[in-house]
Amino acid sequence: LRPRTPPSERASPGSTDEITAVVSSEDWHFAPLVIVILGASGDLAAKKTYPSLFSLYTSGLLPKQFKIIGYARSPKTIEAFRGHVGKYLSNDNDKLRFLQNCEYINGQSYGDEDAFRTVNEAIQNFSPVANKLFYFAIPASTFAVSAKTIKNTVSGEGWLRIILEKPFGHDLESCRKLTESLAESYNEESLYRIDHYLGKEMVQNLMTLRFSNLYFSRLWDTQSIAAVLLTFKEPFGTDGRGGYFDKYGIIRDIIQNHLMQVLCLIAMEPPVKLDGSSSDQIRTNKVNVLKAIEAIKFEDIILGQYEGYRDDPTVPDDSTTSTFCALKLHVNTPRWEGVPFILKAGKALDERKAEIRIQFKDAPGASFMFDSPCPRNELVIRLQPREAIYIKTNVKTPGFSSQPVQSELEVDYNTRFGASDSKTNPDAYTRLILEVLRGRSAGFVRKDELEEAWRIFTPLLHRIEREKVMPQIYPQGTRGPEHDVKVEEWGYLRNSEYVYY
Ligand code: NDP
Ligand code: BG6
Repeated sequence: LRPRTPPSERASPGSTDEITAVVSSEDWHFAPLVIVILGASGDLAAKKTYPSLFSLYTSGLLPKQFKIIGYARSPKTIEAFRGHVGKYLSNDNDKLRFLQNCEYINGQSYGDEDAFRTVNEAIQNFSPVANKLFYFAIPASTFAVSAKTIKNTVSGEGWLRIILEKPFGHDLESCRKLTESLAESYNEESLYRIDHYLGKEMVQNLMTLRFSNLYFSRLWDTQSIAAVLLTFKEPFGTDGRGGYFDKYGIIRDIIQNHLMQVLCLIAMEPPVKLDGSSSDQIRTNKVNVLKAIEAIKFEDIILGQYEGYRDDPTVPDDSTTSTFCALKLHVNTPRWEGVPFILKAGKALDERKAEIRIQFKDAPGASFMFDSPCPRNELVIRLQPREAIYIKTNVKTPGFSSQPVQSELEVDYNTRFGASDSKTNPDAYTRLILEVLRGRSAGFVRKDELEEAWRIFTPLLHRIEREKVMPQIYPQGTRGPEHDVKVEEWGYLRNSEYVYY
């Protein structure tokens, strides 16, 4: 028998100290590093990229010798730029020291070779052997030209990696074009397409949960699972991003990427190993899931648009863009035959929530054993807010009754692991940028994954656009257009909601 380690002697799970010790012994950590952020004047750079780099810095996860160069077209003095970026950094003692490592260079465009030569001079002056990470926090329309300009102007030893932000195209054809134009400058190994959902704690947890627990691994198929429901809800609308959103809509913004990535991790076959060395096996297994999904049928979707969406001055008055979508698909593999996967995403809804619900089939015999109906078991993995895993389980109603009542077996990450601060539970971007620095690509989207995901949605998107399909209007702050009846028809039976106190 293996004795249990007393709680006080257990290392806190995945603690920053633990990962800092591992990372600081890796080769790249001894080499100088330059991070160049293209689109440094933008929203994403200020709100996500710089704060994530700051978090890596304060955790001792960046090399000792590092420099961050912001590049954009907007003219800014270095003081103004540092002031702008600094607004989004926590008021730590390290903030000033961090900002002193941040430079800003502006140019005419993302194809301005003279300006990029200035960036290269700054890199060479810092260190000709530095590793280089370029973060593309710019619209996808400028990806190809930026990659080409870097290729033509940036020199020196050390690796060069590029992080790309979504959207990667708007349909299969545009995605292929983008992939081809990037491939003219850089090979696939240098490109890290970020889907920040892959950096969320509970998404990273999926493989551990599935493959290290006998009772899940044995039940994870069509024999036991009745339906899978993936939900993304936001309580606010396009929030100043109406111009971008109207060209994309909820399917492209959330479902084709974030929810499909989560679906792949739920549905894929087990890899041999989970570490970085098996990265391509994980991605290959994910692609195999996508290959087994047929293009979504028009009959299998419900579309909605929130009331007031078109009041945004950047949205056309006659916009038919959907801000809500529920849809059903199947993964045609022996493991998943007949199991509906229902994906649901919406903006301006009643709450903020992203979760996975694995609904199990009815327990055999329960219908004639008990007088009252026996609800289905359900495994709920709550990605946000307040990460938790709970299993809806039937127990006897306490007291004289012998009838089943549903309760929850629960792991709340906050109370169990104290996972509420950024050290124990770093932001998704922080985790993913570290993965790029370590050269681990499993958590990024490979080009064939991307193409398969677009293949599944492109005919549907084209039809919706061609026929200008009008979504159902729903009031803000609600659950969206009525969809419970359809979702039940698709095979998911709504259980009572677990209310947190
Ligand atoms: P912005 O629209 O703020 O663009 C970032 C910067 O790129 C701008 O400051 C601007 O810098 C430059 N830029 C904008 N439009 C153009 C253009 N047409 N041609 C050339 N340069 C342009 O985007 P975000 O910062 O919000 O996001 C950056 C990327 O990340 C985008 O592709 C976005 O879709 C994606 N993304 C954003 C998220 C977010 O939460 N904001 C979430 C997920 C993905 P300058 O004019 O100074 O050069
Ligand atoms: C982005 C979408 O990719 O994800 C946004 O473009 C959305 O529309 C955001 O708000 C949601 O991310 P999170 O991490 O807050 O769930």
